[in-house]
Amino acid sequence: MTNASLLLHAQGLVKNFALPDGGKIRAVDGVSFDLNAGETLAVVGESGSGKTTLARILARIEPIDEGEATFLGADWLRARGGALRRLRRQMQMVFQDPYGSLDPLQRVDSAIGEPLAIHEPSLRGAERATRILEALEAVGLGREALSRYPHEFSGGQRQRLAIARALVLRPQLVIADEPVSALDPSIGAQILELLGRLQRQFGLTYLLISHSFPVVAQLATRIAVMREGKIVEMGAAADVLQHPAHPYTRALVAAVPELPVAPGRFLGA
Ligand SMILES: Nc1ncnc2c1ncn2[C@@H]1O[C@H](COP(=O)(O)OP(=O)(O)O)[C@@H](O)[C@H]1O
Ligand SMILES: [Mg+2]
Repeated sequence: MTNASLLLHAQGLVKNFALPDGGKIRAVDGVSFDLNAGETLAVVGESGSGKTTLARILARIEPIDEGEATFLGADWLRARGGALRRLRRQMQMVFQDPYGSLDPLQRVDSAIGEPLAIHEPSLRGAERATRILEALEAVGLGREALSRYPHEFSGGQRQRLAIARALVLRPQLVIADEPVSALDPSIGAQILELLGRLQRQFGLTYLLISHSFPVVAQLATRIAVMREGKIVEMGAAADVLQHPAHPYTRALVAAVPELPVAPGRFLGA
């Protein structure tokens, strides 16, 4: 079988924004890539390079201007109604700021149960409670979290809650936009470790968006380097980190003193 493991195919994605002076900016400028099941494709680039816009158009949070995307074999960008709902539950997002996905006024049980209420309305109460607890336990939290509110948790725990909410529907693809950049490095490292463990446990595919090469190096199997809306280099993570081909990538990699290329191994050490 060809393409048996192709999960997402994106072709020529373009997103423009209007500027106040009447001009426009091409935030995403002809981006194409394939995402295979089980891999982690990291999109790395400086602030303003278009990473978040790419995530948002891919997740259909914002409409796209040009391009095509096939997700799970279906025309993702044109899917509507029931077909869109079936696909959408397979693609979940984690944001930099957990408040982006957690309502401060919503208790944890209701926040994590909400996607189930929308996508699996026929679940009975006890089944829903089990699924909510499973998702919480998968991210290292427990039953005592259920009746609490987001503000009662630390930043790292809130990101765990956001991940639980993303995972409760058992998606195949998780798009994580700067999932640790709002956290202290040691807490961020724990969240990255958790993401790696969840990937192995549930066979997840990640599109990991980050401005940080050390973050990307910890999880990525492939790396796409983005600059001014375009992917300027894409390849196996070790190749891009150790033998960057594009001058822009070389400059970015050179700016980082030491890069883990695999758990426990360090470049240049
Ligand atoms: N809603 C918007 N309206 C106008 N310009 C935007 C909007 N969102 C992003 N941009 C612009 O698009 C470019 C890419 O932004 P973004 O996707 O947020 O980059 P990154 O996530 O890599 O920092 C930037 O120049 C940014 O100012
Ligand atoms: Mg961003």
